[in-house]
Amino acid sequence: MSREMPRDTGLDNTLNVLKDGYMYIMNRQDRFDSDVFETRLLGQRTICLVGEEAAEIFYDEGKFQREGAAPNRIKETLFGKGGVQGLDGDAHKHRKAMFMSIMSRENLQHFNQLFKQQLRLAIEKWEQIDDVIFYKEIEEVLTRTSCLWAGVIVEKDMDKLTDEIGTLFESAASVGPAHWAGRRNRNKLEKWMSGLVEDVRDGKINPPEPSALYQFSWHQDLEGNYLDPKIAAVEMLNIIRPIVANAVYINFLVLALYEHPQELEKIKTGGEEYAKMFVQEVRRAYPFFPVAVAVVKNDFIWRDFTFKEGTLTLLDLYGTNHHPKSWDNPDIFNPERFRNWNDSPFSFIPQGGGDHYLGHRCAGEWVTLEVMKTSLDFLVNHMDYNIPKQDLSLSVNDIPNTPEIALHNVRKKIDSFL
Ligand code: HEM
Repeated sequence: MSREMPRDTGLDNTLNVLKDGYMYIMNRQDRFDSDVFETRLLGQRTICLVGEEAAEIFYDEGKFQREGAAPNRIKETLFGKGGVQGLDGDAHKHRKAMFMSIMSRENLQHFNQLFKQQLRLAIEKWEQIDDVIFYKEIEEVLTRTSCLWAGVIVEKDMDKLTDEIGTLFESAASVGPAHWAGRRNRNKLEKWMSGLVEDVRDGKINPPEPSALYQFSWHQDLEGNYLDPKIAAVEMLNIIRPIVANAVYINFLVLALYEHPQELEKIKTGGEEYAKMFVQEVRRAYPFFPVAVAVVKNDFIWRDFTFKEGTLTLLDLYGTNHHPKSWDNPDIFNPERFRNWNDSPFSFIPQGGGDHYLGHRCAGEWVTLEVMKTSLDFLVNHMDYNIPKQDLSLSVNDIPNTPEIALHNVRKKIDSFL
């Protein structure tokens, strides 16, 4: 017997989503006392899911598919068209393997080396500036690092390129001019990237073999064809864009160190284990990627609720990371919760859940962990700075939050970072 899903009333709740932001689903989970409810968003019937058990069914590819899930406005800015996010089944696993092939231990070490070099160069510059607007500065460091790692030689203004890449993820949830800037920049960047792929195939440029540009240019699909240069361009941006988006997490590290000064000593004395726990807690506690999106593949029943084929479904990532069934005192910042954590692939899902190779879990989660561990070490052990009085509050409906923290008096601590 199937029962009716709790429903958020109203003709369309898009405005409520904009108002409640990261809390939209959890507020209703609380009100309905249910990890599943139905709503209408952008004129469409939509199911909302939250929590570890719901995440497990969301990542069951017998129940959900990605084709047709992402709204057009997200594809026009954040994702692009024809990329790995919208594939299913064997085509998805084959394309995903292309991404995972560049995530070897050696290639991640190489990434880390490049990132450290760029941080080292950047701090020389920051020492000369009064007000370091950290988010912008670190975005540029990441743009340089990601292009070097991906095998892309940049001949244009790095500042401008950083802004263009930034708009792809900063504008995804925006409306109006910000959204249009995101679309324009995507078109421009895809054109540039597809030109590079063609140059590789024509032998005009020779990026290093382990780089994304080399691997994606020569990747063959299941039929043995090279990727359309436009699709290869989308996938190149699926590497470069989210590396730059790590600027958000690095800012959250600064914020977390500022908001929890008692953590500093624990990080200094706790070795790699504590540093990793701190990084995990930052990824759990602070709001970044709000939801993952899929469509019901075939009718099925879960917890006595009928999921109808073709229904758009959102899995609340931020809410799942705060769900009281999985996390004690979820609103308290406490890295210790990760000391003996059970490693569930469905309760801690800031970058999606399930399996990296077989499912849609973020291909770059290990890159992110490298970026965050290195950044934390840099902030705590190699850099001094002051945070002058300023408004550092995060807003629940700013998706994503890109806090423009100003740092004063930045200086190197010791010269032994590399
Ligand atoms: C900045 C931190 C990052 C966050 C918060 C993040 C978050 C996510 C999320 C939520 C998903 C979707 C999961 C799903 O649909 O089920 C995803 C997928 C993906 N991410 Fe990330 N990501 C980050 C960094 C990265 C990095 C550094 C890379 C590449 C180097 C990357 C590449 C990808 C790719 C290619 C996918 C698509 C995977 C697929 O559909 O199979 N991400 N990410």
